[in-house]
Amino acid sequence: MAHEIRIAGTDVHFACAAGQNILDAALKAGIEMPYSCRKGVCGNCAGALAAGEVECPPTDVAEPGQHLYCQCRPLGDIEIVPAAWHRIDPAARKIFTARVYRNTLAAGDVSVLQLRLPAGRRAKFRAGQYLQVALPDGSRRSYSMANPPHESDTLQLHIRHVAGGQFTQIVTQLKAGDLLQVELPYGNFELREESSAPMLCVVGGTGFSPVKSLLDDLLKKEIKRPVTLIWGARNRGGLYLMAAVERWRKLLPGFNFIPAIEDAGDAQALGGFHGRVDDAVRAHCSSLAGHEVYCCGAPAMVSAVRKACVPERGLDPHHFFSDVFVPGPAAR
Ligand code: FES
Repeated sequence: MAHEIRIAGTDVHFACAAGQNILDAALKAGIEMPYSCRKGVCGNCAGALAAGEVECPPTDVAEPGQHLYCQCRPLGDIEIVPAAWHRIDPAARKIFTARVYRNTLAAGDVSVLQLRLPAGRRAKFRAGQYLQVALPDGSRRSYSMANPPHESDTLQLHIRHVAGGQFTQIVTQLKAGDLLQVELPYGNFELREESSAPMLCVVGGTGFSPVKSLLDDLLKKEIKRPVTLIWGARNRGGLYLMAAVERWRKLLPGFNFIPAIEDAGDAQALGGFHGRVDDAVRAHCSSLAGHEVYCCGAPAMVSAVRKACVPERGLDPHHFFSDVFVPGPAAR
């Protein structure tokens, strides 16, 4: 049986079908709220309940009194208090047939794919957002734009190869001139431009890509904030775009880079941290009170970094922004 969900303090309400979770119902009704993984891992979709009852699996990701909207189903009509919401502008999301301009193997298991939009067309997105690539079987894959929004006639994607992955098989064959259908923008992982808080960016592997867009945007807009980037990889080859890091070192005042490398020899050679990114956070940050953290990568890595930042280093949980990379078909 369908139930009604109302946003507290507004006259906005929408239907939630039987068995549907709050987040899916909101997105279907054209209302966007913070989210990333849609799997109960990142905590981005947490919000309060002002009235009614919900059924939620147990979690230690949400703060007391908060519910993960991607996991909770209404048991009747309910009233919710999301952390933020806005109506999705259907005209803002566009489908493009983009042309492969360059396809580079940047690391053993990472392709950097550069796409050009058709002549005269521009992609409108905010730094940190992502797109969906349409595959021949009708499924989709999500990838963050690594280029900043002002480079709007191009799209740069960092694609980690996944054994047996459908798009991995396609991407390794793509050559200049091939066409791909993409739709964008999606997501709300983005820079809080109004803030001047020091930023800690913690990324694993190709989690680097949305943060590259954020930092290039910061540079373009001449926003001056202290930034520390911790980039985790198995070995030095996993830091596949050091040219970008070198550019920020030169041009971003207050930029600090810490590679977190699992290979002891490579960590020592680079003067970096030997180990995981969450341990690098513990080693380099005694307190994160007053900071903002931008974290991107696999679900387990994001959850470990959240633990290191929020309960262990005093970060305000509302200042932990994450983009969780979940392999496989994109939820729509
Ligand atoms: S926990 Fe709900 S979107 Fe990640």
